[in-house]
Amino acid sequence: MPDTGTTAAAFAPANIALCKYWGKRNQELNLPMTSSLSVSLGDKGAATRITITDHDQDIMTLNGAAVPLFSEFGQRLMVFLDLFRLNLYRPPASLRFHVDTTTSVPIAAGLASSACGFAALVLALNKLFHWQLDARHLSILARMGSGSACRSIWPGFVEWEQGQDADGMDSYGKIIPEVWPELCMGLLMVNEKEKNISSRVAMQRTVETSTLYSAWPDKVEQDLADIKQAIHEKDFSLLGKTAESNALAMHGTMLAAWPPVNYCLPETMAAMQKIWALRIEGLSLYFTQDAGPNLKLLFLEQDRATVQSHFNLDIVRPFC
Ligand code: DP6
Repeated sequence: MPDTGTTAAAFAPANIALCKYWGKRNQELNLPMTSSLSVSLGDKGAATRITITDHDQDIMTLNGAAVPLFSEFGQRLMVFLDLFRLNLYRPPASLRFHVDTTTSVPIAAGLASSACGFAALVLALNKLFHWQLDARHLSILARMGSGSACRSIWPGFVEWEQGQDADGMDSYGKIIPEVWPELCMGLLMVNEKEKNISSRVAMQRTVETSTLYSAWPDKVEQDLADIKQAIHEKDFSLLGKTAESNALAMHGTMLAAWPPVNYCLPETMAAMQKIWALRIEGLSLYFTQDAGPNLKLLFLEQDRATVQSHFNLDIVRPFC
Protein backbone atom coordinates (compact mmCIF):
# COMPACT_ATOMS: atom_id res chain seq x y z
CA MET A 1 0.00 0.00 0.00
CA PRO A 2 1.37 3.49 -0.84
CA ASP A 3 2.52 5.69 2.06
CA THR A 4 0.71 8.67 3.51
CA GLY A 5 1.41 11.70 1.35
CA THR A 6 1.57 9.63 -1.83
CA THR A 7 -0.25 11.60 -4.48
CA ALA A 8 -1.30 11.50 -8.13
CA ALA A 9 -3.23 13.84 -10.42
CA ALA A 10 -5.16 13.51 -13.66
CA PHE A 11 -7.48 15.45 -15.98
CA ALA A 12 -10.60 14.23 -17.80
CA PRO A 13 -12.77 16.21 -20.24
CA ALA A 14 -16.45 16.90 -19.75
CA ASN A 15 -18.59 15.21 -22.36
CA ILE A 16 -21.93 16.19 -23.86
CA ALA A 17 -24.17 13.45 -25.21
CA LEU A 18 -25.54 13.91 -28.73
CA CYS A 19 -27.61 10.77 -28.15
CA LYS A 20 -28.47 10.58 -24.45
CA TYR A 21 -28.14 7.94 -21.75
CA TRP A 22 -31.44 8.06 -19.90
CA GLY A 23 -32.44 5.02 -17.85
CA LYS A 24 -30.66 2.11 -16.17
CA ARG A 25 -31.16 -1.60 -16.29
CA ASN A 26 -28.96 -1.96 -13.20
CA GLN A 27 -28.73 0.92 -10.73
CA GLU A 28 -25.86 -0.42 -8.67
CA LEU A 29 -23.52 -0.85 -11.63
CA ASN A 30 -24.93 2.06 -13.69
CA LEU A 31 -25.75 -0.23 -16.59
CA PRO A 32 -27.79 1.62 -19.20
CA MET A 33 -31.00 0.63 -20.97
CA THR A 34 -29.50 1.86 -24.26
CA SER A 35 -26.22 2.84 -25.84
CA SER A 36 -25.34 6.55 -26.09
CA LEU A 37 -22.90 8.80 -27.96
CA SER A 38 -21.09 11.93 -26.86
CA VAL A 39 -18.44 14.44 -27.74
CA SER A 40 -15.75 15.37 -25.21
CA LEU A 41 -15.01 19.04 -24.59
CA GLY A 42 -11.24 19.27 -25.02
CA ASP A 43 -9.68 21.12 -22.10
CA LYS A 44 -12.99 21.81 -20.34
CA GLY A 45 -13.33 19.26 -17.59
CA ALA A 46 -12.03 18.21 -14.18
CA ALA A 47 -8.50 18.09 -12.77
CA THR A 48 -8.32 15.82 -9.74
CA ARG A 49 -5.52 15.22 -7.29
CA ILE A 50 -5.78 12.27 -4.89
CA THR A 51 -3.52 11.98 -1.88
CA ILE A 52 -3.34 9.31 0.83
CA THR A 53 -3.84 11.06 4.18
CA ASP A 54 -3.38 10.12 7.82
CA HIS A 55 -6.69 11.78 8.73
CA ASP A 56 -9.34 9.53 10.22
CA GLN A 57 -11.82 10.57 7.51
CA ASP A 58 -11.70 11.29 3.79
CA ILE A 59 -11.30 14.94 2.83
CA MET A 60 -12.96 16.25 -0.31
CA THR A 61 -12.54 19.65 -1.85
CA LEU A 62 -14.25 20.95 -4.95
CA ASN A 63 -13.01 24.17 -6.52
CA GLY A 64 -11.31 25.03 -3.26
CA ALA A 65 -14.35 24.50 -0.99
CA ALA A 66 -14.76 21.55 1.39
CA VAL A 67 -17.43 19.03 0.35
CA PRO A 68 -19.37 17.83 3.44
CA LEU A 69 -19.05 14.03 3.67
CA PHE A 70 -22.77 13.73 4.40
CA SER A 71 -23.82 15.71 1.30
CA GLU A 72 -25.19 13.78 -1.67
CA PHE A 73 -21.99 14.33 -3.64
CA GLY A 74 -19.79 13.50 -0.63
CA GLN A 75 -21.66 10.24 -0.10
CA ARG A 76 -21.36 9.29 -3.76
CA LEU A 77 -17.62 9.84 -3.65
CA MET A 78 -17.22 7.85 -0.44
CA VAL A 79 -19.24 4.93 -1.78
CA PHE A 80 -17.05 4.99 -4.87
CA LEU A 81 -13.79 5.08 -2.90
CA ASP A 82 -15.11 2.24 -0.74
CA LEU A 83 -15.14 0.03 -3.83
CA PHE A 84 -11.36 0.20 -3.81
CA ARG A 85 -10.84 0.25 -0.07
CA LEU A 86 -13.10 -2.72 0.59
CA ASN A 87 -12.06 -4.86 -2.33
CA LEU A 88 -8.37 -4.20 -2.66
CA TYR A 89 -6.86 -3.40 0.71
CA ARG A 90 -7.38 -4.82 4.18
CA PRO A 91 -7.91 -3.59 6.80
CA PRO A 92 -9.89 -1.06 4.74
CA ALA A 93 -10.41 1.44 7.54
CA SER A 94 -6.75 2.44 7.46
CA LEU A 95 -6.87 3.95 3.98
CA ARG A 96 -8.14 7.55 3.75
CA PHE A 97 -7.94 9.93 0.81
CA HIS A 98 -7.90 13.62 0.14
CA VAL A 99 -9.65 14.16 -3.19
CA ASP A 100 -9.15 17.67 -4.54
CA THR A 101 -11.02 18.51 -7.74
CA THR A 102 -11.02 21.67 -9.82
CA THR A 103 -13.53 21.95 -12.63
CA SER A 104 -13.67 24.28 -15.57
CA VAL A 105 -17.39 23.55 -16.07
CA PRO A 106 -20.15 24.72 -13.69
CA ILE A 107 -21.03 22.12 -11.08
CA ALA A 108 -24.31 20.21 -11.32
CA ALA A 109 -25.84 22.61 -13.83
CA GLY A 110 -26.27 19.96 -16.49
CA LEU A 111 -22.75 20.48 -17.77
CA ALA A 112 -21.46 16.99 -17.09
CA SER A 113 -19.36 17.91 -14.05
CA SER A 114 -19.88 14.55 -12.33
CA ALA A 115 -18.88 12.69 -15.49
CA CYS A 116 -15.50 14.40 -15.80
CA GLY A 117 -15.04 14.33 -12.01
CA PHE A 118 -15.38 10.55 -11.72
CA ALA A 119 -13.32 9.95 -14.87
CA ALA A 120 -10.49 12.15 -13.55
CA LEU A 121 -10.67 10.37 -10.18
CA VAL A 122 -10.32 6.95 -11.81
CA LEU A 123 -7.38 8.14 -13.93
CA ALA A 124 -5.73 9.55 -10.79
CA LEU A 125 -6.35 6.32 -8.82
CA ASN A 126 -4.84 4.35 -11.70
CA LYS A 127 -1.67 6.44 -11.37
CA LEU A 128 -1.64 6.40 -7.57
CA PHE A 129 -1.78 2.61 -7.34
CA HIS A 130 0.14 1.90 -10.58
CA TRP A 131 -2.68 -0.28 -11.85
CA GLN A 132 -1.76 0.35 -15.50
CA LEU A 133 -5.30 -0.40 -16.60
CA ASP A 134 -6.30 -0.10 -20.24
CA ALA A 135 -8.97 2.37 -21.41
CA ARG A 136 -11.70 -0.27 -21.35
CA HIS A 137 -11.18 -1.04 -17.66
CA LEU A 138 -10.76 2.63 -16.77
CA SER A 139 -14.06 3.34 -18.53
CA ILE A 140 -15.81 0.52 -16.64
CA LEU A 141 -14.53 1.86 -13.29
CA ALA A 142 -15.57 5.42 -14.17
CA ARG A 143 -19.04 4.12 -15.10
CA MET A 144 -19.42 2.74 -11.57
CA GLY A 145 -19.10 6.31 -10.24
CA SER A 146 -21.44 7.90 -12.78
CA GLY A 147 -22.72 6.28 -15.95
CA SER A 148 -21.78 9.09 -18.32
CA ALA A 149 -18.26 9.21 -16.80
CA CYS A 150 -17.36 6.13 -18.85
CA ARG A 151 -17.38 8.37 -21.94
CA SER A 152 -15.04 10.99 -20.38
CA ILE A 153 -12.07 8.61 -20.54
CA TRP A 154 -11.71 9.49 -24.24
CA PRO A 155 -11.43 12.72 -26.27
CA GLY A 156 -13.60 13.37 -29.33
CA PHE A 157 -16.62 11.28 -30.27
CA VAL A 158 -17.32 8.38 -27.91
CA GLU A 159 -19.93 5.66 -28.04
CA TRP A 160 -20.96 3.93 -24.82
CA GLU A 161 -22.15 0.52 -25.89
CA GLN A 162 -24.82 -0.67 -23.52
CA GLY A 163 -23.56 -4.26 -23.40
CA GLN A 164 -25.51 -7.35 -22.38
CA ASP A 165 -23.52 -8.95 -19.56
CA ALA A 166 -24.99 -8.88 -16.07
CA ASP A 167 -21.61 -7.88 -14.58
CA GLY A 168 -21.28 -4.90 -16.97
CA MET A 169 -17.87 -5.92 -18.30
CA ASP A 170 -19.07 -5.25 -21.86
CA SER A 171 -20.60 -1.84 -21.05
CA TYR A 172 -18.01 0.91 -21.58
CA GLY A 173 -17.04 3.86 -23.75
CA LYS A 174 -15.22 3.41 -27.06
CA ILE A 175 -13.68 6.17 -29.13
CA ILE A 176 -15.11 6.79 -32.59
CA PRO A 177 -11.94 7.57 -34.52
CA GLU A 178 -13.28 10.45 -36.61
CA VAL A 179 -12.56 14.15 -36.25
CA TRP A 180 -14.63 17.18 -37.19
CA PRO A 181 -12.47 20.29 -36.72
CA GLU A 182 -15.21 22.73 -37.82
CA LEU A 183 -17.65 21.49 -35.17
CA CYS A 184 -18.42 24.04 -32.43
CA MET A 185 -20.36 23.73 -29.23
CA GLY A 186 -21.51 26.87 -27.46
CA LEU A 187 -22.37 26.64 -23.79
CA LEU A 188 -25.37 28.88 -23.17
CA MET A 189 -25.68 29.48 -19.44
CA VAL A 190 -29.26 30.23 -18.56
CA ASN A 191 -28.76 29.62 -14.86
CA GLU A 192 -25.69 28.45 -12.93
CA LYS A 193 -27.51 27.24 -9.81
CA GLU A 194 -27.50 23.57 -8.84
CA LYS A 195 -30.39 21.63 -10.28
CA ASN A 196 -33.16 20.83 -7.83
CA ILE A 197 -33.45 17.18 -8.86
CA SER A 198 -30.42 15.06 -9.72
CA SER A 199 -30.23 13.26 -13.06
CA ARG A 200 -29.94 10.02 -11.10
CA VAL A 201 -33.30 10.48 -9.37
CA ALA A 202 -35.00 11.93 -12.45
CA MET A 203 -33.80 9.09 -14.64
CA GLN A 204 -35.09 6.40 -12.33
CA ARG A 205 -38.41 8.14 -11.87
CA THR A 206 -38.77 8.33 -15.66
CA VAL A 207 -38.09 4.60 -16.08
CA GLU A 208 -40.57 3.72 -13.34
CA THR A 209 -43.46 6.08 -14.11
CA SER A 210 -43.26 7.62 -17.59
CA THR A 211 -45.71 6.18 -20.11
CA LEU A 212 -43.50 7.60 -22.88
CA TYR A 213 -40.40 5.70 -21.77
CA SER A 214 -41.29 2.56 -23.74
CA ALA A 215 -40.69 4.51 -26.97
CA TRP A 216 -37.21 5.66 -25.88
CA PRO A 217 -35.06 2.60 -26.80
CA ASP A 218 -36.30 2.59 -30.43
CA LYS A 219 -35.74 6.33 -30.69
CA VAL A 220 -32.17 5.91 -29.44
CA GLU A 221 -31.44 3.09 -31.86
CA GLN A 222 -32.46 5.20 -34.85
CA ASP A 223 -30.74 8.34 -33.54
CA LEU A 224 -27.47 6.50 -32.92
CA ALA A 225 -27.45 5.20 -36.49
CA ASP A 226 -28.20 8.70 -37.85
CA ILE A 227 -25.57 10.42 -35.72
CA LYS A 228 -22.89 7.91 -36.70
CA GLN A 229 -23.81 8.40 -40.36
CA ALA A 230 -23.74 12.19 -39.90
CA ILE A 231 -20.28 12.03 -38.31
CA HIS A 232 -18.98 9.80 -41.05
CA GLU A 233 -20.39 11.91 -43.89
CA LYS A 234 -19.85 15.27 -42.11
CA ASP A 235 -23.55 15.95 -42.59
CA PHE A 236 -24.03 18.74 -40.05
CA SER A 237 -27.77 19.25 -40.50
CA LEU A 238 -28.36 15.51 -39.87
CA LEU A 239 -26.15 15.66 -36.76
CA GLY A 240 -27.83 18.78 -35.40
CA LYS A 241 -31.37 17.69 -36.13
CA THR A 242 -30.86 14.26 -34.60
CA ALA A 243 -29.10 15.54 -31.47
CA GLU A 244 -31.78 18.19 -30.86
CA SER A 245 -34.63 15.77 -31.45
CA ASN A 246 -33.00 13.21 -29.15
CA ALA A 247 -32.66 15.75 -26.32
CA LEU A 248 -36.25 16.93 -26.72
CA ALA A 249 -37.50 13.34 -26.71
CA MET A 250 -35.57 12.67 -23.50
CA HIS A 251 -37.15 15.71 -21.86
CA GLY A 252 -40.52 14.56 -23.19
CA THR A 253 -40.16 11.25 -21.32
CA MET A 254 -39.46 13.25 -18.14
CA LEU A 255 -42.49 15.50 -18.52
CA ALA A 256 -44.60 12.35 -18.73
CA ALA A 257 -43.10 10.99 -15.48
CA TRP A 258 -44.92 11.35 -12.18
CA PRO A 259 -44.25 13.61 -10.36
CA PRO A 260 -43.22 15.33 -13.59
CA VAL A 261 -39.61 16.43 -14.10
CA ASN A 262 -39.00 19.71 -15.89
CA TYR A 263 -35.49 21.13 -16.20
CA CYS A 264 -36.57 24.03 -18.43
CA LEU A 265 -36.78 27.60 -17.14
CA PRO A 266 -38.58 30.36 -19.05
CA GLU A 267 -35.15 31.48 -20.32
CA THR A 268 -34.49 27.96 -21.66
CA MET A 269 -37.70 28.04 -23.67
CA ALA A 270 -36.97 31.56 -24.91
CA ALA A 271 -33.54 30.42 -26.16
CA MET A 272 -35.11 27.43 -27.93
CA GLN A 273 -37.65 29.72 -29.66
CA LYS A 274 -34.85 32.00 -30.77
CA ILE A 275 -32.85 29.07 -32.20
CA TRP A 276 -35.90 27.79 -34.08
CA ALA A 277 -36.58 31.27 -35.49
CA LEU A 278 -32.94 31.68 -36.61
CA ARG A 279 -33.10 28.27 -38.27
CA ILE A 280 -36.17 29.28 -40.25
CA GLU A 281 -34.12 32.27 -41.44
CA GLY A 282 -31.49 29.84 -42.73
CA LEU A 283 -28.92 29.59 -39.91
CA SER A 284 -27.66 26.04 -39.35
CA LEU A 285 -27.93 26.11 -35.55
CA TYR A 286 -29.17 23.35 -33.24
CA PHE A 287 -29.11 22.63 -29.51
CA THR A 288 -28.97 19.85 -26.99
CA GLN A 289 -29.97 19.95 -23.32
CA ASP A 290 -29.08 17.73 -20.37
CA ALA A 291 -30.40 17.53 -16.82
CA GLY A 292 -30.42 21.28 -16.26
CA PRO A 293 -31.78 24.49 -17.78
CA ASN A 294 -28.69 25.34 -19.86
CA LEU A 295 -28.39 24.66 -23.57
CA LYS A 296 -25.43 23.55 -25.63
CA LEU A 297 -25.59 25.06 -29.10
CA LEU A 298 -24.26 23.12 -32.08
CA PHE A 299 -22.97 24.94 -35.15
CA LEU A 300 -20.03 25.02 -37.55
CA GLU A 301 -17.04 27.37 -37.44
CA GLN A 302 -18.25 29.21 -40.55
CA ASP A 303 -21.32 30.41 -38.60
CA ARG A 304 -19.48 31.30 -35.38
CA ALA A 305 -19.66 35.10 -35.83
CA THR A 306 -23.38 35.03 -36.64
CA VAL A 307 -24.18 32.77 -33.70
CA GLN A 308 -22.10 34.98 -31.38
CA SER A 309 -24.01 38.04 -32.54
CA HIS A 310 -27.20 36.43 -31.15
CA PHE A 311 -25.98 34.65 -28.00
CA ASN A 312 -23.44 35.15 -25.24
CA LEU A 313 -21.62 31.82 -25.41
CA ASP A 314 -18.59 30.00 -24.12
CA ILE A 315 -17.49 28.25 -27.32
CA VAL A 316 -15.62 24.96 -27.44
CA ARG A 317 -14.14 23.34 -30.53
CA PRO A 318 -13.80 19.72 -29.42
CA PHE A 319 -11.35 18.78 -32.20
CA CYS A 320 -9.04 21.83 -32.13
C1 DP6 B 1 -28.83 13.78 -19.16
O1 DP6 B 1 -24.31 9.88 -15.83
O2 DP6 B 1 -25.11 11.78 -14.39
O3 DP6 B 1 -26.47 13.94 -18.93
O4 DP6 B 1 -25.25 7.25 -13.96
O5 DP6 B 1 -26.85 8.17 -12.30
O6 DP6 B 1 -24.54 9.12 -12.44
P1 DP6 B 1 -25.68 8.47 -13.18
O7 DP6 B 1 -26.23 9.54 -14.24
P2 DP6 B 1 -25.44 10.55 -15.15
O8 DP6 B 1 -26.58 10.91 -16.22
C2 DP6 B 1 -26.31 11.69 -17.34
C3 DP6 B 1 -27.59 12.02 -17.98
C4 DP6 B 1 -27.52 13.01 -19.12
C5 DP6 B 1 -27.39 12.31 -20.46
C6 DP6 B 1 -26.02 11.82 -20.86
O9 DP6 B 1 -24.99 12.38 -20.44
O10 DP6 B 1 -25.98 10.86 -21.65
